Amino acid sequence: MFSRSALRTLAAPSSRLFSSSSARQSKVAVLGAGGGIGQPLSLLLKSDPLVTSLNLYDIRGAPGVAADVSHVDTASEVKGFAADHLDAALDGVEVVVIPAGVPRKPGMTRDDLFNTNASIVRDLAAAVARVAPTACILVISNPVNSTVPIVAATLEKAGVYDPKRVFGVTTLDVVRAARFTSGVTNAKPSETPITVVGGHSGATIVPLLSQSSKGKSVSGEAYAALVHRIQFGGDEVVQAKDGAGSATLSMAYAGAKFTNAVLRGLNGEKGVVTPTFVKSPLYADQGIDFFSSNVELGPNGVEKIHPIGELSAEEQKLLDACLPELKKNIEKGKAFVA
Ligand code: NAD
Ligand code: LMR
Repeated sequence: MFSRSALRTLAAPSSRLFSSSSARQSKVAVLGAGGGIGQPLSLLLKSDPLVTSLNLYDIRGAPGVAADVSHVDTASEVKGFAADHLDAALDGVEVVVIPAGVPRKPGMTRDDLFNTNASIVRDLAAAVARVAPTACILVISNPVNSTVPIVAATLEKAGVYDPKRVFGVTTLDVVRAARFTSGVTNAKPSETPITVVGGHSGATIVPLLSQSSKGKSVSGEAYAALVHRIQFGGDEVVQAKDGAGSATLSMAYAGAKFTNAVLRGLNGEKGVVTPTFVKSPLYADQGIDFFSSNVELGPNGVEKIHPIGELSAEEQKLLDACLPELKKNIEKGKAFVA
C-alpha cells in the first residue's frame, strides 16, 4: 500500500528505517481518531515512514489511542488531544485527515448522515482554516459528495480556500473495485487496478472497467453484478455489521493508502496518480464543480486533473445516472454553508 521505497524500508529494522529515509518533516493530524476508522487509521499512519509526527484528536478517547499507538517502534512522534484542544492538535500540521462523524446503520443512505455530519465537518474545517490554513484536508466523513463542498465553502468563507488542497477520499471504491474485479477475473488485485470516477455513494460511483485490460473482459450479467457490487459494497458491510457501523478496517487501509499518496506528492515524487474527489473543471459546465477522476498529486496537492477518458456505452449510462445525483449532493453541501 505504500510506495516501493517505503515498502523496502518497512521491511528493514525500524532503527535504520527512519534515520535517513524521510526527506522532510510530515506532520499529520487525524480528527476523529478515537472512532472505528480513526483507531486503525492512526495505527497505519504510525507505520508510514513518511509520517514524522502524528496528532490524534477526538471529542472522545484520543489520548488513550495516542498512548497506545505511540508504543509502536517507528520513529514518528504521536500526541493525543482531547476535546477543547483542537487548535493545539492542528498546530503546524500539513495534512489533516477527517474521519469524524457518525456512520450508517442498515436502511440508511449516506445522505441520511448529512444532518449530523455536516456541522461536525464544517466546524473542523473552520478550525483548520484558522490554525493550519495551508494544510491539505482529506475528507472521509460521509456523505463525501456533500462534506467536501462543505469544507471548500467553509475555507472559502474564511478566505483561505485552495482547491488544490481539499480531497474527498474515494480510495475505498478503488480498493473494492480492484478486489472484486480480481475475484471475477481470477487475476491478482495488483493486476486489476480500476479507475473509479464520479462521487462516493451508490449510483455516483462509476467504475471504468473498460479501461482495464482484465476488467474489460467482464460482460453481461457478470458485468452488471460487478458494477453493482462496487457501487454498493458499503451496504454489504453495513448489513453484515448489523447496526454496529460501516466499513472501518478496509477504510482505514484505504485512508492510509491515500494519505501516503498525498505525502509522496508533497515530497515531490512524480507520477503519483489516483482517483480522488476534488474541485474539478470536468463537468463544471453542467454545474458540477466537484468530481472524482484520476488526479496527479504533487508538492502543492493537486498537480493535474486527468480527464476520464473513453467510456463504453454502459459506462456512459452509469455516468448519465451519476451526474444529476452528484449535482444535488454538491448543492446541498454548498447550501448548508451559505
Ligand atoms: P465512529 O462513530 O466509529 O467514529 C467517529 C468518531 O468521530 C468518534 O470517535 C467520534 O467521537 C468522533 N467525532 C464526532 N464528532 C467529532 C468532532 N466534532 N470532532 C472530532 N471527532 C468527532 O464512525 P466511523 O465508522 O469511524 O465512521 C466515520 C465516518 O466515516 C462516517 O461518517 C462514515 O460514514 C465515514 N466513512 C467514509 C468512508 C469513505 O469511503 N469515505 C468509508 C467508511 C466510512
Ligand atoms: C463505505 O463505502 O463503506 C462508506 O462510505 C461507509 C458507508 O456508509 O457505506
